[in-house]
Amino acid sequence: MTELERQRDEFLAMIAHELRNPMAAIQNASGLLGNPNVGAQMRERINKILGRQVKGLARLVEDLLDTARITHGKIELKTELQELGPLVETAVESARANAKAREQALELSQPPYALYVEADAERLAQVLSNLLHNASKFTPPGGAITVGVEFEEDTDTAVLSVRDTGEGIPPETLPKIFDLFMQADNTLGRVQGGLGIGLTVARRLVQMHGGTLEARSEGVGKGSEFVVRLPARRLREALPPKASKKQRAAISCQVLVVDDNADAAEMLATALQIEGHKVQIESHSVNALPAAMKMKPDAIVLDIGMPELDGYELAGRLRREPSTAGTLLIALTGYGKEGDRQRALGAEFDEHVVKPADPDTLAELIGTGVAMRRPKGKKR
Ligand SMILES: Nc1ncnc2c1ncn2[C@@H]1O[C@H](COP(=O)(O)OP(=O)(O)OP(=O)(O)O)[C@@H](O)[C@H]1O
Ligand SMILES: [Mg+2]
Repeated sequence: MTELERQRDEFLAMIAHELRNPMAAIQNASGLLGNPNVGAQMRERINKILGRQVKGLARLVEDLLDTARITHGKIELKTELQELGPLVETAVESARANAKAREQALELSQPPYALYVEADAERLAQVLSNLLHNASKFTPPGGAITVGVEFEEDTDTAVLSVRDTGEGIPPETLPKIFDLFMQADNTLGRVQGGLGIGLTVARRLVQMHGGTLEARSEGVGKGSEFVVRLPARRLREALPPKASKKQRAAISCQVLVVDDNADAAEMLATALQIEGHKVQIESHSVNALPAAMKMKPDAIVLDIGMPELDGYELAGRLRREPSTAGTLLIALTGYGKEGDRQRALGAEFDEHVVKPADPDTLAELIGTGVAMRRPKGKKR
């Protein structure tokens, strides 16, 4: 047998093993539900068990599919500027029933200010769910799981940690746990289930968000901590705590639109004006910098593909000019590819919008971005 065949067989055995456990539970449950002697209270419990098992199966299938998608670079994030707090809270609440069933305390501490991240909410929820699931799985009953969120000022980073008081990770295993199919205990007779893909998927998703995922453990029996770091922004000026999209958009801003396509620029300007912004158009890229220095806008929307100076080059010049260094810069591109987004955000831009830009989304980005007013010249 070749090494590849051996690995394949091991993997198939593992999947079969993973499917068998929930299937056994579901089979028993369905048998019991057909039994007229089973009372209402028991039925309710069976229902809960069914729900949990099916959820576990769904996670397994999702993780398996994602592993393949990730290997082939096929996952595209649908990111949106959003508040981190509620997202974390929802993830923690979804893990509560499971933690309770395992008699584990589950605590969340959030900072008193709002943090904003550019994220795919579903994917980030998946990351948190994987970490919380692990924390609970590798912690004996009676243990505790603590989730914390902090903001690192000098690097503009949200630091999210999931800590547990569980079995911990031996130092020699620690560097390997993010590898695909890597498990500290991979004997089929082990207590905990799983395929060893959760962390691989989670780390990849975090990296796609421009962040990092690291693990720490003082050693066996000493618990573990998983730390997600994500580029984020902190709200400096108070918006109403739960400002609706409309309210955020309602902040009136001075906007400079730079686009060589006159029709596109005019449509965009009109849409932004309807949303309450004051808009000026500049159709020659070379004139954009002097126009911006004169106007001192709150936000500049830049087309990327322009003759003479393209959007990237222009953004660089705007950042180097002191009077526009801290201005909110939004890139407008014709391609929705993840690469463009990464490039735009990696360059001097704060936001990236794909043409045709939805006026509501754009107006909201401007309103929120300007309200958060990053310190001048600070890079993300
Ligand atoms: N909170 C934790 N405490 C102790 N060990 C952990 C913890 N989280 C992960 N590990 C170790 O890292 C390994 C890999 O984790 P990962 O989430 O990738 O796989 P899994 O949980 O075993 O299976 P799957 O997530 O595919 O269901 C685990 O098998 C375990 O050995
Ligand atoms: Mg896992």
